[in-house]
Amino acid sequence: MDFHHIPVLFNETIKMLDCQPGDIIVDGTLGGGGHAQAILERILPGGTLIGIDRDPDALEAARRRLCKYQDSLITIHDNFANIESILGQLGIEAIDGMIMDLGVSSYQLDKGSRGFSYQSNAPLDMRMDPTQGLSAHDVVNKYDERRLTRIISQYGEERWAARIAKFIVDNRPIDTTEQLTQVIKAAIPAKARRQGPHPAKRTFQAIRIEVNKELEILEGAIESAVNKMKSGGRLCIITFHSLEDRIVKNTFKKLQNPCTCPPDAPICICGNQPLIKIVTRKPIIPSEREISENPRSRSAKLRACQKL
Ligand SMILES: C[S@@+](CC[C@H](N)C(=O)[O-])C[C@H]1O[C@@H](n2cnc3c(N)ncnc32)[C@H](O)[C@@H]1O
Repeated sequence: MDFHHIPVLFNETIKMLDCQPGDIIVDGTLGGGGHAQAILERILPGGTLIGIDRDPDALEAARRRLCKYQDSLITIHDNFANIESILGQLGIEAIDGMIMDLGVSSYQLDKGSRGFSYQSNAPLDMRMDPTQGLSAHDVVNKYDERRLTRIISQYGEERWAARIAKFIVDNRPIDTTEQLTQVIKAAIPAKARRQGPHPAKRTFQAIRIEVNKELEILEGAIESAVNKMKSGGRLCIITFHSLEDRIVKNTFKKLQNPCTCPPDAPICICGNQPLIKIVTRKPIIPSEREISENPRSRSAKLRACQKL
């Protein structure tokens, strides 16, 4: 199967990143290499792109696509949360910019065997990095009812979380995406099932976030990226749901205004200096045209900041 992924908010992200020949840029979510190709075209001659992905299949596909740039591309199988140690090992002191295009790729969703999608039957897996231990099978079959309720409620924003968790526990073992989808459908009352998106959408999102610890790493990863950024360097982040976007928005705000003094303090005594300037006052969202051409872009939001 080809690695097919249409990069989201493509022109907007490349413009925001504002990279120049000679720059050292990190693509923390290399995926199929769509954004990476445009970055490489702009940083040559003299520039370097460090492409990170948790998924070895993505790295392989990106290396193939970007083979003509191989002298300027370094690919790393890792979590972008480890950006400081990755750069340390490469002997790179500071970078000119970084992009994070969060979540899963179309390739991961469409490749049924990865178990990300309720639309094709496969063993429950959902690991972006197939070498990690925890899989969706573990979450679904080993977590207790309370923990499952909390995850489905928090990460899926699913109002039927408690019922779904109970049905999951009562129907174990659950081995496949189809079995899980049937259990979720049975847990949600028929009337509620007829409204809104596919009844399994929120629960699948929640389990995927838990398996890949997608939210837990985000704030620290942003701080690490900003730490390694040269003055004037830009960090661009594309999110796909409100939970991710909230973390990006709040972390950017905290880094722009880190002062912890009480609001009524006459002068600042904490001494915390702003590290960034937020470049996107409001998040950039896809045009109607992009959404009609690529429905998966519908929920995307781009936020960018600049290191002071
Ligand atoms: C939306 S796709 C990126 C698509 C890419 N921008 C392109 O143009 O083809 C997200 C990719 O990031 C990877 N990924 C998600 N979270 C990651 C993390 N914390 N560290 C490294 N890679 C991650 C996924 O495995 C997936 O391949």
